[in-house]
Amino acid sequence: MASALGQGCLGGKAARGSGHSSLQQTRVQRQQSTYYPPYRCPQQKARRQPTLVSQALAAPSAIAEQTNDGLGLWEAAGGTAATHASSWGLNSGGELGLPLDFTTYYQLGRQIGAGAYGTVYEAIEKATGDRLAVKVLPKQRGKLSREKTLTKIQQELEVLAALQDCQQVVCLEDIFEDSQWVYIVQELCEGGDLAQALATHGACTESQAAAVIYEVLKVIATCHAEGLLHGDIKPANFMMRPSMSNPWKAIDGGRLRNPWLMAIDFGCSQPVHKARAFMRRTGTPVYMAPEVFQRQYGMSADLWSLGMMFYELLACRLPFWDSMDDCKSKTIDEVGKSVVTDDVPMDYGPFEALSKQGMDLLHGLTQRDPSKRITAAAALEHPWFREQLGYACKPGQACSNNIVALDKTPACSIFGPELAFEAAC
Ligand SMILES: Nc1ncnc2c1ncn2[C@@H]1O[C@H](COP(=O)(O)OP(=O)(O)OP(=O)(O)O)[C@@H](O)[C@H]1O
Ligand SMILES: [Mg+2]
Repeated sequence: MASALGQGCLGGKAARGSGHSSLQQTRVQRQQSTYYPPYRCPQQKARRQPTLVSQALAAPSAIAEQTNDGLGLWEAAGGTAATHASSWGLNSGGELGLPLDFTTYYQLGRQIGAGAYGTVYEAIEKATGDRLAVKVLPKQRGKLSREKTLTKIQQELEVLAALQDCQQVVCLEDIFEDSQWVYIVQELCEGGDLAQALATHGACTESQAAAVIYEVLKVIATCHAEGLLHGDIKPANFMMRPSMSNPWKAIDGGRLRNPWLMAIDFGCSQPVHKARAFMRRTGTPVYMAPEVFQRQYGMSADLWSLGMMFYELLACRLPFWDSMDDCKSKTIDEVGKSVVTDDVPMDYGPFEALSKQGMDLLHGLTQRDPSKRITAAAALEHPWFREQLGYACKPGQACSNNIVALDKTPACSIFGPELAFEAAC
């Protein structure tokens, strides 16, 4: 347990399927067929059909009657995975109602990542030669029953499908299963994750952190608007889409265009139940909010985790431990004790140099009392972003501080254009 504290995800993680009628069909062609699942999006999220996604999510699922530690999740659902799949007209066959023929369509390549549950490989689509990423999740996870594991996998998949309109969420391309594994085929993000960037290039500057935090906030705000807790905000769960030698320098160079940072892992996401707070500890302990350890939490827990990530981007360490190795030697209760009781030190190095607005946002995110913590929507409008990023500039034009000139394309379907910054144009 201790060894996973800095990396793993404690909580729950899972579907749909694709009707593959011919190896010759490209993914695009398959999508155009009437029975292709609704939520794949090769390069353009616009190809997705939102109504079909909502149908998919409303469809009953086999394992949905399992509640997540009494949290009331999926209580309303019933039926079977087979009905789930057949509601999309899919040619399915596995326990989750997914197609079983991953190897017919894809060739697994080298391993490119690993998390607490998933191992991620590069994959080649046989028909097109396209390079993609495939997250392979075991159907049996430690002591967890197979049924509960499948519930978690299905939940991860449903959340990923529900968020496909958000440009900052990795594109879901295909899903398969066999007797032991579930295969989640995704867009390949070649630029590495933010944890790797921190390990390789060290802490970033305030304006670079602002560019990162702004993108992550869009994901959190989308989740919350959709009634979902992300549940595992941390650098390792955000990946740079393009390959670049130094992401921090690429941000400074203003060469990035949205979407450049992608959320890749929704294994700890949960729908927020209207009547009850979450109680089950879930997430990666060193990023978990105090109230998560106290087993009474809601969406604001994501903002605390973002505060930890903001801190780490600036200081290359987390507030309560000198290094990741230091916190890995702690038990979850020891981590929880520090998070619940210790002050967040902000009286050294990068925090002394942090601007007033930056400090204001960091304080807002690291409020111990969740009711006093800044919300995702309010954080997105924080003046720090205008100050640091010069979002007042028009897309394609140089900003005053030459940071990232964003496109004015909607961040996520629910937001519309970047209105918060238009007034200053
Ligand atoms: N689409 C992708 N493209 C490239 N690399 C990826 C992709 N998805 C994941 N990875 C790599 O694999 C790692 C693990 O993936 P992921 O976070 O989805 O697994 P996990 O088991 O859910 O992790 P966790 O430990 O956070 O629960 C990521 O940190 C990243 O480095
Ligand atoms: Mg992860």
